[in-house]
Amino acid sequence: MKKIIITLDGYSSCGKSTLAKQMAAHLNYVFIDSGAMYRAITLYFIRHGIDLVNVTAVHEALSRIQLSFVLNEKTGRADMYLNNENVEEEIRGLAVSNQVSQVAALEPVRIFSVAQQQLMGEQKGIVMDGRDIGTAVFPEAELKIFVTASPEVRVERRYQELVAKDPAITKAEIQSNLEMRDHIDSTREFSPLKKAHDALVLDNSSLTRDEQLELALSWAKERIESA
Ligand code: CDP
Repeated sequence: MKKIIITLDGYSSCGKSTLAKQMAAHLNYVFIDSGAMYRAITLYFIRHGIDLVNVTAVHEALSRIQLSFVLNEKTGRADMYLNNENVEEEIRGLAVSNQVSQVAALEPVRIFSVAQQQLMGEQKGIVMDGRDIGTAVFPEAELKIFVTASPEVRVERRYQELVAKDPAITKAEIQSNLEMRDHIDSTREFSPLKKAHDALVLDNSSLTRDEQLELALSWAKERIESA
C-alpha cells in the first residue's frame, strides 16, 4: 500500500492535534505537531531574551537551536526536545502561547522550521498539523484537511486541557490568547493561515472524536487507494 502525506491546518484549539494523532495511530503513520516546533523556538527566545526585531540576534539564536521529537515510552507519544531537554510541558503554558505567534511570524523562523518539516515528510506516511502545512510545507500533499470549530467550543476545549495543570487559568485569558494568535496567524506576511484551495473542510463543533475520526479516515482511505 502506497503511503501518502496528510496535512491538517486550522485555527488554534480546533482539535487538529487530537485528530492528527488518532489518524496516525490508525494508519500506522508518524504524527508531527509542527506547532510544538514553533513553541520550542519561542521558549528558547524567551529564556534568552531574544529581541524579535534584531534580525542578527534571531539568526544567531536559531543557529543554536536543535529540535527533535523523542518517543515517550509512558505516553506512547513523541515529546518535543529543545537542545536535548524535554520541554513538552513547558511549551504548552500561557507564557509561550502569548509569544509564539509573534515568533512564528518571523521569516527566518519559518525558513528554519519548514526545512526540517519537509525533511520529515520525505518518506511520506506522515500526518502533520499546523497552519501552513497544506499551503507552504507540503503543497503537493495527497490529502489536505482544514479543521474548524466554533469559537466557544475551542475556548472550552483549551480550558479543559489547561485547567488541571493551572487551576488559576480563566476562560477569558484563553479566549483573548486564541483571538490574538488567530489574528496574527492569519494576517502575517509569510505563509499566513488559510485554507488550501484543494483542502477538505472538517467542522467538528458538533462531532464526537470518534465521528470526526471516522470521517477523516474515510477520506484518507480513498486517497491512499488512488495514490
Ligand atoms: O494552540 P494550538 O495547539 O492550536 O497551536 P499550535 O499548533 O501549538 O501552534 C502554536 C502557534 O505556532 C500558532 O498559533 C502559530 O502561531 C504557530 N504555528 C505556525 O505558525 N505554523 C505552523 N505550521 C504551526 C504553528
